[in-house]
Amino acid sequence: MNLIDINRKTCSRDGICAEVCPLHLIDFQEEGYPTPVPEAEELCIRCGHCVTACPSESFLHRDMPVVQCPPVQADLLLSPEQCEHFLRHRRSIRVYEEKPVPRDDLARLIEVARYAPSGRNTQCANWLVLDNREELRKLAGIVYEWMRWMLANMKEFAVSLGMDRAVTGWEAGNDIFLRNAPALIVAHAEKDSRLAPSTCTIALTYLELAATSMDLGCCWAGYLNAAAANFPPMMEALALPEGHQCFGAMMVGYPKFHYHRLPLRNPPVITWRS
Ligand SMILES: Cc1cc2nc3c(=O)[nH]c(=O)nc-3n(C[C@H](O)[C@H](O)[C@H](O)COP(=O)(O)O)c2cc1C
Repeated sequence: MNLIDINRKTCSRDGICAEVCPLHLIDFQEEGYPTPVPEAEELCIRCGHCVTACPSESFLHRDMPVVQCPPVQADLLLSPEQCEHFLRHRRSIRVYEEKPVPRDDLARLIEVARYAPSGRNTQCANWLVLDNREELRKLAGIVYEWMRWMLANMKEFAVSLGMDRAVTGWEAGNDIFLRNAPALIVAHAEKDSRLAPSTCTIALTYLELAATSMDLGCCWAGYLNAAAANFPPMMEALALPEGHQCFGAMMVGYPKFHYHRLPLRNPPVITWRS
């Protein structure tokens, strides 16, 4: 089968597929039918705009069969008020219930995160899920070791990031690195990928929002992420595939407490230009 075919019996020749294709890989002249440009096979980024925007389901894409693309359900979309309220009520959760998160639920979070935008639709985030408490405790201990190293070798910088207090907190028995969370989801990708940092960050952001909708709570594991980029013992412990780097990690668990009000934020700094 060709990468792209058009069902000429149903195509209404509205030209939508040509207009929405981000790479302009569809030629469309009003008197004819849409046709792919010769390089389409190699340049297509499989974003699916052509298939999912065609109202008559006439756009046939070998790698994105329209029957496998669920229809948009208007009744499941959020109103602007619902969306704003939902986004504003998400909080970083740092106190978790003891109970573990079922793997099916963790997998569902990653499933939703797959739909986050990624540069050129590379979808380059890979996932490591850790849900063994001893393992997580070990990783938190490595963050502690990294901070001690930082305080010994780059004291001023480490203190400016609050590492002295973090170390003291850990020594007093508080896991301020992973918050005793029952699970940690690490997003990783090829370390030289230009698109990996943004792709992993945005995917984790989707994941955190999905967790909120499932009455789960998340918190970015920023300290662990920094240790993963700089401290060989953390790299060894994570044991990511060769050539991969951690580009973000998220604690996941059931929130012990619920929030009753929305917080305040700084006013936005906006420059309007016309
Ligand atoms: C990239 C990033 C790294 C973060 N790292 C940590 C962290 O290591 N530990 C932590 O407790 N919170 C961490 N946070 C959470 C922020 O402190 C939190 O988002 C901020 O205080 C606002 O609170 P809210 O998320 O509840 O609205 C991180 C957030 C981001 C975006």
